[in-house]
Amino acid sequence: MAKTKTAFFCSNCGSQSPKWIGKCPSCGEWNTYIEEVIQREAAGAGNQVFIRRASTPTLITEINSGTEIRIDTHNQELNRVLGGGLVAGSVVLVGGEPGIGKSTLMLQVALSMRNLKVLYISGEESEQQIRMRAERLGMGQNECYILTETSTGEILKHIGALTPGIVIIDSIQTLTSENIDASAGSISQIRETASEMQRFAKTANVPVFLIGHITKEGTLAGPKLLEHMVDTVLQFEGDRNYGYRILRSVKNRFGSTSELGIYEMQGNGLREVTNPSEILITQHEEPVSGTTVAATIEGLRPMLIETQALVSTAAYGTPQRSCTGFDVRRLNMLLAVLEKRSGFKLGAKDVFLNIAGGLRVDDPATDLAVVSAVLSSSIDIPVSSKTCFAGEVGLSGEIRPVTRVEQRVSEAEKLGFETIMISKLNLKAAKSAARSIKIQPVSKVEEVFRFLFG
Ligand code: TYD
Ligand code: MG
Repeated sequence: MAKTKTAFFCSNCGSQSPKWIGKCPSCGEWNTYIEEVIQREAAGAGNQVFIRRASTPTLITEINSGTEIRIDTHNQELNRVLGGGLVAGSVVLVGGEPGIGKSTLMLQVALSMRNLKVLYISGEESEQQIRMRAERLGMGQNECYILTETSTGEILKHIGALTPGIVIIDSIQTLTSENIDASAGSISQIRETASEMQRFAKTANVPVFLIGHITKEGTLAGPKLLEHMVDTVLQFEGDRNYGYRILRSVKNRFGSTSELGIYEMQGNGLREVTNPSEILITQHEEPVSGTTVAATIEGLRPMLIETQALVSTAAYGTPQRSCTGFDVRRLNMLLAVLEKRSGFKLGAKDVFLNIAGGLRVDDPATDLAVVSAVLSSSIDIPVSSKTCFAGEVGLSGEIRPVTRVEQRVSEAEKLGFETIMISKLNLKAAKSAARSIKIQPVSKVEEVFRFLFG
């Protein structure tokens, strides 16, 4: 009987060591080494299923670039995030918290594929459960096969017999490879099973989706190495109290990482939200103080988002600053600028900030809307609901220009806004895009108050 062999793996980067070490020499993290059993790793090399192509160095100019073939997933938001469709032979990792809707999204994609055999492999749910979910989502008319299996050897055998056009694995943490004796979900198993699936994808030129769990800290469970191995990492996120879900690309070898897809979780699955502005602006009967609309751009898409601020006298000694969907440090910076430049005593106030729909915005152009919302709430006078904002606020209180202001202006105009406040430095570009919308240029934070409240 073979002797049980163990090794230590870094839970951060996946590097291996025969002994336990305190500090990982490859990624520099402390206390990340975990012992795992690796019994028959060497034996695995012998029964390699795939034949490797002999490689020779080729002159870069002689390589046929071609355009990679994109497979339409029949899901516009997913296509967008992938950079225009699924690339043949690519491995896509879809991560997200439990219950966010990863399995739903992937099953929906599996059911809506046309003229392509799909194999959905689940190690988490039974065939009946998947069938029930499929009925809930509305069954497709296509060839969608379900396999409940966790051993990669068996999976690759079934794939060989079925020759699917797309493989979906739910989830990578449930897979086990016979080449390794560690339990499912351990670092060495994830590393081995993911590399087996990646090898399959590359040799057979079939795209593979891997669903991955997320740890409490919000990072993908398993070694960072997993993210290095795959071509694309998508993150599925959202506030569970809201129906909206965002699919973000964190890494993409075939497209930009600034794109995002928006979905709404409904009773019969995920609905694609093609015009996000419409749902992100609440229709108020009459204007309320502390509410403003920011003309942001996420990826390539302009999006008008409502920001809400509440400024009140601090009940306890230390004032509270709390944000949902916005960086709290950025809010503190904006409050400091406001205090210094416009004389508002915000130091003794509680300030709460909320971005509508449970979204998280990173666009610096949101600053101006945040500043205006804070001003509006602290004097309790509403800003007209027909006004929106796009500008970055600098440390000396200057309103800085933002990118692609034309797109923001057009979107605001399309949605019926009558005024848009922007940086003076964006004036020319904004004027060129505006037809009937009024452009209100500002150059300093002091002017914002004057223009809004006279
Ligand atoms: P699921 O896709 O299983 O999440 P994950 O695979 O990321 O863990 O399901 C997410 C939740 O979505 C579940 O709590 C039930 C809900 N849901 C709906 O609201 N509508 C639907 O049509 C489906 C299928 C699920
Ligand atoms: Mg699931």
